[in-house]
Amino acid sequence: MHSSEIRKRFLSFFEKRGHAIIPSSSLIPENDPSVLFTTAGMQPLVPYLLGEKHPRGKRLANVQKCVRTNDIEEVGDNTHLTFFEMLGNWSLGDYFKEEALKWSYELLTSESEGFGMDPERLYVTVFEGDINAPRDEEAAEIWKNIGIKESRIYFRPASENWWSPGDNGPCGPDSEMFYDVTPAGLGDLTPEEFQKADENGDVIEIWNDVFMQYEKEKGKIKGPLKNKSVDTGAGLERVTAVLQNRSSVFETDLFEPMMKKIEDLRPQMDRRAKNIICDHIRATVFIISDGVTPSNTDRGYIVRRLLRRAFRMAASSSDEKEALELIIEIAREVIEKYKDAYPEIGSSSTDLTNKIEIEIHKFKDALKEGLKRFEKMSEYDISGEDAFLLFSTYGFPIDMTVDLANEKGIRVDVEGFRKAYEEHQKISRKGTAGKFKGGLAGSGEEETKYHTSTHLLNAALKKVLGEHVKQKGSNITAERARFDFSHHSKLTEEEKNKIEDIVNDAIDRKLPVICEEMTLQEAREKGIDGVFGDRYSDQVKVYYIGDGETGVFSKELCGGPHVENTGALGKFKIIKEESVSEGVRRVKAVLE
Ligand code: ALA
Repeated sequence: MHSSEIRKRFLSFFEKRGHAIIPSSSLIPENDPSVLFTTAGMQPLVPYLLGEKHPRGKRLANVQKCVRTNDIEEVGDNTHLTFFEMLGNWSLGDYFKEEALKWSYELLTSESEGFGMDPERLYVTVFEGDINAPRDEEAAEIWKNIGIKESRIYFRPASENWWSPGDNGPCGPDSEMFYDVTPAGLGDLTPEEFQKADENGDVIEIWNDVFMQYEKEKGKIKGPLKNKSVDTGAGLERVTAVLQNRSSVFETDLFEPMMKKIEDLRPQMDRRAKNIICDHIRATVFIISDGVTPSNTDRGYIVRRLLRRAFRMAASSSDEKEALELIIEIAREVIEKYKDAYPEIGSSSTDLTNKIEIEIHKFKDALKEGLKRFEKMSEYDISGEDAFLLFSTYGFPIDMTVDLANEKGIRVDVEGFRKAYEEHQKISRKGTAGKFKGGLAGSGEEETKYHTSTHLLNAALKKVLGEHVKQKGSNITAERARFDFSHHSKLTEEEKNKIEDIVNDAIDRKLPVICEEMTLQEAREKGIDGVFGDRYSDQVKVYYIGDGETGVFSKELCGGPHVENTGALGKFKIIKEESVSEGVRRVKAVLE
């Protein structure tokens, strides 16, 4: 079964069962500074799992782009990936365990409507219970009724069968489905044998049904959720590997063109290096297409690390020029492969390969020099200071230094590297604070103005386009504001003009900007926009533009800072309007 057929079958299976199909959100989480990337299909849905009403109803399903960097050391094996697609279906206070498990089973095993997997190769796990929640006899009972043998239902502790997106948010016990991928088949397994088979990769986890019933705050369960919900996730790449009878995700059609290219150009390269290069370039393409540029901080640094590591591996069996060509060729294959399922990739293809090329050019010469230095250091294990020197002078990401060391059979003091890094950060912060104060304060002021302008823009968009407009992300520099929002069609000239006029009118009226602190609950009750942006803290700030006298033009939950009066903003002008992904538009605007 081709991967595109798998996506299609998954969605139509749940659509038939009353689920609205929603588009994938961006890899960049909206209004959630606690994570760098969307790591699960549920992440953009947290507000709704906590009780907010979703505009599309109580049953949802989608294929969500995800990035996880916590398993990066395992990437290159048969199952771990940096970027992956997650198939997910959700019940928001609607159906619960019975339907969720029944449908999971049906989808996996049904020949006609689902994936037609062999039921004799399935195993399931359920939560064994602890002080937070009881042993999940209910799920076990449902599995038995579905037809899973009791001996293939394993009770596991919270470390395995409890799911939450982090220290905060909705969480609950889960039930995972595993599939036997050995040629001969393993048959029944004792709990110990099952555990071993899991560790050896003879059975692989293909789906997880989470029964969302509790809310966590700062790592502790603070109470039950208002509504019991279901959150599920199946990794498309793993499901595809099973259905295409492959032992590795890299052997599925999802990687076929990239793998073919690398096999053609570098037949001698080590398998793991081939896998890592394909994984990292695929992730890079997706992350850049969602608006990230390689840099030294946060998301930008993740891309930089992925690219540098891939480039170094490519360069280890060729010269730098050929290595760059290989990377670009693979990026092109990724674009070709995914542009139908993810149009944002096709529409930015030249920009994508340009950004990759520019980034690699920055590193090319440093890599050569750094490798010479590494050679000199590598007679013994690499100390923290040396790893830091490679990082600070030659731009070697720590995981790349670890790769190099592994290839030589020596070790790196990663802990020592971290210490050296943190020490350096402290010193440089002290050093720059006084030196650049004037400049920084200046650009801060501009950013503050742009920040206030996005509130005006948000309100104006709603007035002109309708109440369905929701903020999907925003990015502000001292030069411009960028604002993403949900809307299905391109803005007409007339709409753009109207929006500008409304914003400029609000500026001309010199409206006061007022901040009020309240509890999240109060903000919710007042129907304040963006209410879940700050969902985990109780006390929130609400910014009003306009007051009792002038009329309230906009009210939004926001951390600030803002100008005191809109009169400070200047003239607002939209300079660009474009599509970011399905149903999401982007406006760039300047203040003149
Ligand atoms: N959110 C669950 C997971 O990622 C389904 O496994």
